[in-house]
Amino acid sequence: MNRREFLLSGVAALVISGPAAAQMQDHSKHGMDMPGMSPGDGKMAAPGPLPTLPEGAPLRDLPRLANRASGPGRFEAELTARPATVRFAEGIETPILAYDGETPGPLIEVTEGDKVAIRFANRLPGEETTIHWHGMPVPADQDGNPMDPVLSGADRLYTFELPEGSAGSYWYHPHPHGRTAEQVYRGLAGAFIVKPRQDPIPAAYGDTPLFFTDLRLAADGSIPANSMADLMNGRVGDHVLVNGQKKPVLTLPAGCRRRFRLFNATNARFLHLNFGEAPVTLIGSDGGLLEAPVTGLRTIDLAPAERAEIIVAFDQPGRLVLRAEDVDHGWMGPGRPDTAADVMTIDVTADKAEQPPPLSAKLRSIVDLGQPVVRRRLEFTETMSMGEGGMKMGFLINGVAFDMNRVDLVAKAGQTELWEIANLADMDHPFHLHGTQFQPVETERDGRVSKTPYRAWKDTINVARGQTVRLLVRQDHPGLRMYHCHILEHEQLGMMGVVEVRA
Ligand code: C2O
Ligand code: CU
Ligand code: CU
Repeated sequence: MNRREFLLSGVAALVISGPAAAQMQDHSKHGMDMPGMSPGDGKMAAPGPLPTLPEGAPLRDLPRLANRASGPGRFEAELTARPATVRFAEGIETPILAYDGETPGPLIEVTEGDKVAIRFANRLPGEETTIHWHGMPVPADQDGNPMDPVLSGADRLYTFELPEGSAGSYWYHPHPHGRTAEQVYRGLAGAFIVKPRQDPIPAAYGDTPLFFTDLRLAADGSIPANSMADLMNGRVGDHVLVNGQKKPVLTLPAGCRRRFRLFNATNARFLHLNFGEAPVTLIGSDGGLLEAPVTGLRTIDLAPAERAEIIVAFDQPGRLVLRAEDVDHGWMGPGRPDTAADVMTIDVTADKAEQPPPLSAKLRSIVDLGQPVVRRRLEFTETMSMGEGGMKMGFLINGVAFDMNRVDLVAKAGQTELWEIANLADMDHPFHLHGTQFQPVETERDGRVSKTPYRAWKDTINVARGQTVRLLVRQDHPGLRMYHCHILEHEQLGMMGVVEVRA
């Protein structure tokens, strides 16, 4: 019997251990968990029609975190995580967890070279949390590791300095032990943009963040807990939101070019985005601009946690749809959701924009990391074993589940390493590393190697089923750093490890 069939016949006895187990118990109190059912099975909690979300409002700007510093070169602010409510659907208040009462959280925007000091208050009742600065080169003890929890009711100051060359599109989210997935799907995530001192992209293109999250609402308007199917496959919500809105509208004049920063802040949804007929130029990845624009693209693929910077030319008047296409990335059990969705509309009006200035052919240089002196191999596996009470499911790296008190790898700061990530499992797993940006080198599948066509800084990369990816990695700061699958339910179930970087 193959693995998938085994899962199906054994579902009733499926056992999940660790932090997830507690959530599952929680969940079954509401009498809604039948593993293997559709990913929306949590909805059974409250009978009645599911709320519909209003669509078509003008795209809003993300709220901003105010800088209270008195002088230049500094960013000082306060940020609070606490319960809040949002009116996603007409007349229904949805309880969420939020940074400063908003989901997505406020946009943090700083400039390269800034000294950042953010005083964080955890006002989540009975829950510890942290803030992880996803992708940013911050010291390990400021990076919101699960080993550094901020207890419920406590405050802490996060401080770091953003070096020259770190301009890029990052994000921030909680990273407490065993509760990251839930805190994120309940609303805790926000964009963090580091601007360069001199921006090579013409200001006339604008700079619009599109922060994607996905939401599932029960009939009573609440956000249901993760089901067994969510834990196995990663939670895919029912509504893709852009800056917290369902299918908003952006109105632009014909002939204009726009710069967008795309953030996939969903727990587990792969986004395959296109702007209809409009041509897309890729200018940046997770860690900032590419060396040269990549023109003529039709789709932008973003695995959970990935970001991209693009320029779209809106030449013709008319209505365009920013659409996500459905692609199968592996699914256990029945009920794989159709992830196709229209996520935003762009109304291109007939009034002509002024002729936009051209994009320069060279955006910046990206350093050559040189020859690796260390090679490592990480293997992703999904395992099932018989345990007391039934089947036990594991999401593992090199055969083991995450242990906060274990160091899995030891690296030396400043040394270039080659990391080979092999996915031996049935689902795609987006690999993410803390503390630095890496450079993808090549991918391999069925013995065929494809070189990565251009140099880019990345902190998250999808590793498809049966694929191996190779990356050049250099950590510049000592300390403990996590690496994990960024399907947050998989991270929670153990697909994470620790690298200790020594000076
Ligand atoms: Cu975006 Cu370890 O996280
Ligand atoms: Cu991270
Ligand atoms: Cu995964």
